[in-house]
Amino acid sequence: MTNNMPVPATILAIESSCDDTSAAVIRDGVVLSNCVASQDIHRLYGGVVPEVASRAHQANIIPVVDQALKSAGIDKQAVTAVAFTRGPGLMGSLLVGTSFAKAFALSFDLPLIEVNHMQAHVLAHFAEDPKPEFPFLCLTVSGGHTQIIRVNDYLDMEVLGETIDDAAGEAFDKTGKILGLGYPAGPLIDRHARDGEARFAFPEPAIPGLNFSFSGLKTAILYFLRDQTAKQPDFVQENLADICASIQHRIVTILLSKLRKAARQTGIRHIALAGGVSANSGLRQALADMGAREGWTTYVPRLEFCTDNAAMIGITGYFKYLRGEFCGQDASPYARGFTG
Ligand code: KG4
Ligand code: ZN
Repeated sequence: MTNNMPVPATILAIESSCDDTSAAVIRDGVVLSNCVASQDIHRLYGGVVPEVASRAHQANIIPVVDQALKSAGIDKQAVTAVAFTRGPGLMGSLLVGTSFAKAFALSFDLPLIEVNHMQAHVLAHFAEDPKPEFPFLCLTVSGGHTQIIRVNDYLDMEVLGETIDDAAGEAFDKTGKILGLGYPAGPLIDRHARDGEARFAFPEPAIPGLNFSFSGLKTAILYFLRDQTAKQPDFVQENLADICASIQHRIVTILLSKLRKAARQTGIRHIALAGGVSANSGLRQALADMGAREGWTTYVPRLEFCTDNAAMIGITGYFKYLRGEFCGQDASPYARGFTG
């Protein structure tokens, strides 16, 4: 007797572009598992150390894949394709995930799907409901990225604006470092800001178009604190909550004023948020308020799908799988670029 049931598309997805080693299993576009091994060791250095990250990926990758298969209840033999992050990211980190994906695909004779990490952050919105309607705008904000993307279709996207220097998450982390907070400082600034008032006015950079700049903010804060502590040595301790609220307020207003400009220019009212900084309570609240004023429908995925994760790689891989977009065993990682 022959079985005419179609074989489900069971994709094993691998993400290793920065400091999180992640594996996920996606069956017919549904996330069955999404496992992440984070590398806390970078806290000791106040930032991600590329050499340390690639060594940790090497140690973590097999256990993480094993855990992803087990928690999905899937045997290795049931996998029908392997998706992996090809770039952008740290080269040493990308090499670990790419090499693993190639070896797995070769040993089970499976098709390989290369995925662009930035495209995957956007398509993370399709890992759960409600899914955004096309066309939509996505503001992707994390420790390494700040972009406004116009999304016409699953695999048809255009970068409308991006940072010309630091990413939004870096702005939180670097200003937090100046204040003597630990790494990553974003969540700590968020926490202190809740008890404070944004009464210190840091400048908003005059950058034309839809691009962003955050490096001036860092310098402004450095000089402001230097002047204030010269007059009052315990200024930071005495005013920490208000300083954090002011930093957060400025980063959020920089992001949202460009997002509003992009929405008005394009006439698009479906607005999505992606990346680790979308955990920020000030940004979420400000997006909700602006959305209500501007008549937007807004989408913020669960945090698990906002930070770096393999589920978003698997979801993107699934859309490429449906179109038969596979790559060869000769695909090598790229460090920069939205589309490679
Ligand atoms: O997406 P993600 O986990 O990793 C990448 O950078 O790719 O984002 C991490 C970034 C860090 O810069 C961290 O400080 C920031 O997201 N972050 C936050 C918050 N939670 C994480 N920034 C502000 N407020 C938060 N609650
Ligand atoms: Zn990322």
